[in-house]
Amino acid sequence: MAIDNDGKKVAIITGGGQGIGKAVAQRLLSAGMTVVIAEIDEEAAREVESEYADLGTVLYVPADVTDEASVKALMETTINTFGRLDVLMNNAGIAANRPIANLSIEEWNRVIATNLTGTFLCSKHAAPHLARRNGSIINMASTRTLMSEPDTEAYSASKGGIAALTHSLAISLGPKVRVNCISPGWIEVSPWKKKQFRKMPGITEAEGRQHPVGRVGTPEDIASLVCYLISPEAGFITGANFVVDGGMTRKMIYT
Ligand SMILES: NC(=O)c1ccc[n+]([C@@H]2O[C@H](COP(=O)([O-])OP(=O)(O)OC[C@H]3O[C@@H](n4cnc5c(N)ncnc54)[C@H](O)[C@@H]3O)[C@@H](O)[C@H]2O)c1
Repeated sequence: MAIDNDGKKVAIITGGGQGIGKAVAQRLLSAGMTVVIAEIDEEAAREVESEYADLGTVLYVPADVTDEASVKALMETTINTFGRLDVLMNNAGIAANRPIANLSIEEWNRVIATNLTGTFLCSKHAAPHLARRNGSIINMASTRTLMSEPDTEAYSASKGGIAALTHSLAISLGPKVRVNCISPGWIEVSPWKKKQFRKMPGITEAEGRQHPVGRVGTPEDIASLVCYLISPEAGFITGANFVVDGGMTRKMIYT
């Protein structure tokens, strides 16, 4: 069903039902945009729809970013409903952190399929619509593209792939579509989970203090950068990877 969108810009946020994506949804709605929550978790997405109904037009579209038919249907529903697409945020992501000896091929494939292939599929099927609006894509990588803890092979590889896919897409889709990537460090998402899992952050003083800025990150820190990167103010920025980590990747730690 077509909805009168009053000429507002339209953003799809994959995995927008919880965490960073949910905070970005709130910020974009507050800025007057229409937001599509592309989620695999219906309960989380329905909560966002009802919590943010007063902020603007927010629509849940069921989507599994690993499934090309589902991604195609997501784009069709968005265009049939709102007639345009201005922003794609490839945010849906999972991890399977365990020692490589215990990491099954199924788990490896699931992480790569969600994080990396999902970013590819959504970008592929959004690109023609974004090109019509001089739109932009924001990909979510991680500081794991640059540094590691033990036992994070699948996640780190997927995020490194996203950083490279970002500059590849920027070259292929320019000048009509800009494509940038954000690499967050520790972002505390507990208060942004669906009700069943929502809780206050349990961060110790030492955990915050170790960051050069003196605290861990919040989803709002990422939302601020997304708002800037999708705006005309960022018109000369594409193919870039922005590290948002309170300075942790710049800090030498030798014992
Ligand atoms: N939180 C952090 O500290 C942090 C740090 C670096 C990078 N990131 C990245 O930021 C993104 C968001 O992280 P978060 O902490 O908010 O995660 P989150 O788990 O709180 O939210 C992710 C959402 O993605 C959805 N999702 C999972 N698989 C999906 C699929 N196949 N199709 C559609 N939706 C799917 C989940 O249902 C969930 O609602 C992820 O890509 C993550 O890797 C997070």
